[in-house]
Amino acid sequence: MTTVSKIEFKKAIEQGIPKELPPKKQPSPGANRAPKRKDILTPEEKKLALRNALRYFPKSWHEELAKEFLDELNTYGRIYMYRFKPDYDLYARPIGDYPARCRKAAAIMLMIQNNLDPAVAQHPEELITYGGNGAVFQNWAQYLLTMQYLSKMTNKQTLHMYSGHPMGLFPSSKRSPRVIVTNGMMVPNYSQPDDLERFNALGVTQYGQMTAGSYMYIGPQGIVHGTTITLMNAFRKILDKGDTAQGKIFLTSGLGGMSGAQPKAGNITGCITVCAEVNLNAAQKRYDQGWADLLITELGTLVDRVREARQNQETVSIAFHGNVVDVWERFYDEDIFVHVGSDQTSLHNPWSGGYYPQGLSFEEANDLISSDPDTFRKQVQESLRKQTELINKHAEKGTYFFDYGNAFLLEASRAGADIMAENGIDFRYPSYVQDILGPMCFDYGFGPFRWVCTSGDPKDLDTSDAIAAEVLKKIQKEAPAETELQNQDNVHWIESAKENRLVVGSQARILYADAEGRIKIASAFNKAIADGEISAPIVLGRDHHDVSGTDSPYRETSNIYDGSRFTADMAIHNVIGDSFRGATWVSIHNGGGVGWGEVINGGFGMVLDGSELAEKQLRAMLFYDVNNGISRRSWARNEEALFAIKREMQRSPGLEVTLPEIVEDELLEDL
Ligand SMILES: NC(=O)c1ccc[n+]([C@@H]2O[C@H](COP(=O)([O-])OP(=O)(O)OC[C@H]3O[C@@H](n4cnc5c(N)ncnc54)[C@H](O)[C@@H]3O)[C@@H](O)[C@H]2O)c1
Repeated sequence: MTTVSKIEFKKAIEQGIPKELPPKKQPSPGANRAPKRKDILTPEEKKLALRNALRYFPKSWHEELAKEFLDELNTYGRIYMYRFKPDYDLYARPIGDYPARCRKAAAIMLMIQNNLDPAVAQHPEELITYGGNGAVFQNWAQYLLTMQYLSKMTNKQTLHMYSGHPMGLFPSSKRSPRVIVTNGMMVPNYSQPDDLERFNALGVTQYGQMTAGSYMYIGPQGIVHGTTITLMNAFRKILDKGDTAQGKIFLTSGLGGMSGAQPKAGNITGCITVCAEVNLNAAQKRYDQGWADLLITELGTLVDRVREARQNQETVSIAFHGNVVDVWERFYDEDIFVHVGSDQTSLHNPWSGGYYPQGLSFEEANDLISSDPDTFRKQVQESLRKQTELINKHAEKGTYFFDYGNAFLLEASRAGADIMAENGIDFRYPSYVQDILGPMCFDYGFGPFRWVCTSGDPKDLDTSDAIAAEVLKKIQKEAPAETELQNQDNVHWIESAKENRLVVGSQARILYADAEGRIKIASAFNKAIADGEISAPIVLGRDHHDVSGTDSPYRETSNIYDGSRFTADMAIHNVIGDSFRGATWVSIHNGGGVGWGEVINGGFGMVLDGSELAEKQLRAMLFYDVNNGISRRSWARNEEALFAIKREMQRSPGLEVTLPEIVEDELLEDL
């Protein structure tokens, strides 16, 4: 921790880009650094990248900075402007610590700083929160300017963010969103992977992932509830009735930003989790944070420890430092049966450090990415073919393998792996959305609702947990049989959330809930803030990975079967619809989760301050935010969504949704 007083912190924020050129800085030693990005620009384009970077600074600094930025571009493939990284620590401070003329802007600053907190972010020096390339900003100048704008914004202005660049404050109204965020929005023909490399290197676009560039990341907790729901139900698929996951094996990979949630979810499910991770820093971090019980670095030791855990029917999570392909291979050779398997390497980003091929050390792979990208690409594809072959062999013995939305099936198929089903159209293995989350959660409107207590006080989080549990239990009493299991799992989740020690960074909570649950919980929070039971505003949000908001044909919308899963109308309607119904900020991104060009995803943030206006806004916006997705899913003839939207129409005046007439299959076959 550096010692910067609160006053110095406020001054630094209000100053934006410093008046004096700060001394040259090296990235913090020991930081988990982003891999060198592809050197893709021509010499002429490099000049353009420098011109673009230098426009943030006074002319008198250009000569000195031009050389330094060129050096950064050549060394790292991007211009991060390390020199301008602030001297104060970045983390979610209590809301009152932020200099601001409007409380909502202060809440947004808190959320931004949380996304850049080294305890939370994957590559904090490069402003990357998770997923290898999920950026909050492209460079430190954008960060400084954005914080400065937020510090002077009134509640009648809106800040417009273009892929990390703050275009500026524009007059608006009290009821308008305070910030509008777009990330990576391209003219459709320019969404090939190399387009991202080129335009990102030029400094004109960025990959916002889902909750990185939308300031809504809450550490691996953000995904752990969804991962637990998925894992519990994956085991339910293969276990006999009455049997439990105790002592059964779940093999997977990745201990990064999101994937780090897997061992915790495994422990909550009660199984033996083996999670392979090639980056020792990442494995150590999750182990130190208590998200994995053991850290093992040698394959033989792993085999022995797993056998012991099987014998003792343990619940234990093991972080293994090594390549996941080696583990699949060794477990096959040693005849260790894997009950459930998955993968959470960052295959949405396969060519620049998202996936590390078998046979290369972490360091060797990182070198090859920039020194010989073609060879690296070939090795990734070879490794994917090998991994698939091994998974197929395990599956023949009965392993249930599922894709957890990291584009594993897609990239393995592109690598020519034996991964297609007999019909040559589908994959051999299901995506977790097709088999589990889609029909069980999204189609009914259940999704990863979340909140952050801006006081930073754990007591407020406890109060909010208790309020949410009380609301859910009331809903549970009247819930229809169709959603009994979901309600039961959610009540159990919130009641044990504290003891599962999920908080990393801001005082945040995730909870799967449907529209009714989200609205009632939010309304109860707003009242508790007004009554002083909760000491400061609460920020509401959700993962973009939800019922609505995200159009992603191989993930969130993979269980849409009317052909519309390749369209992105729903995500756009969400952000526009949410923005005029009361969202404090909205965001729309190209490329989160499964890769650039493969998905459009949108989300919101909403600050509850205990006011009457907040009450009106939360009702209008949360209702639309969820039901937009259910309507689209019901129009696609998804049975569960049809059930949910008909029920909603019965109880909600003013809601009138177009329903599909279902044509008889026989009629079409006879044609
Ligand atoms: N469906 C969902 O809800 C969901 C949730 C979380 C993540 N995801 C997806 O999962 C992927 C991972 O997300 P993340 O945020 O954890 O990314 P991340 O980049 O932070 O972590 C991935 C980790 O995998 C490791 N890795 C890569 N290749 C490996 C290999 N062969 N063997 C062992 N380890 C290897 C990397 O070192 C890295 O630490 C992304 O594609 C993301 O979009 C999906």
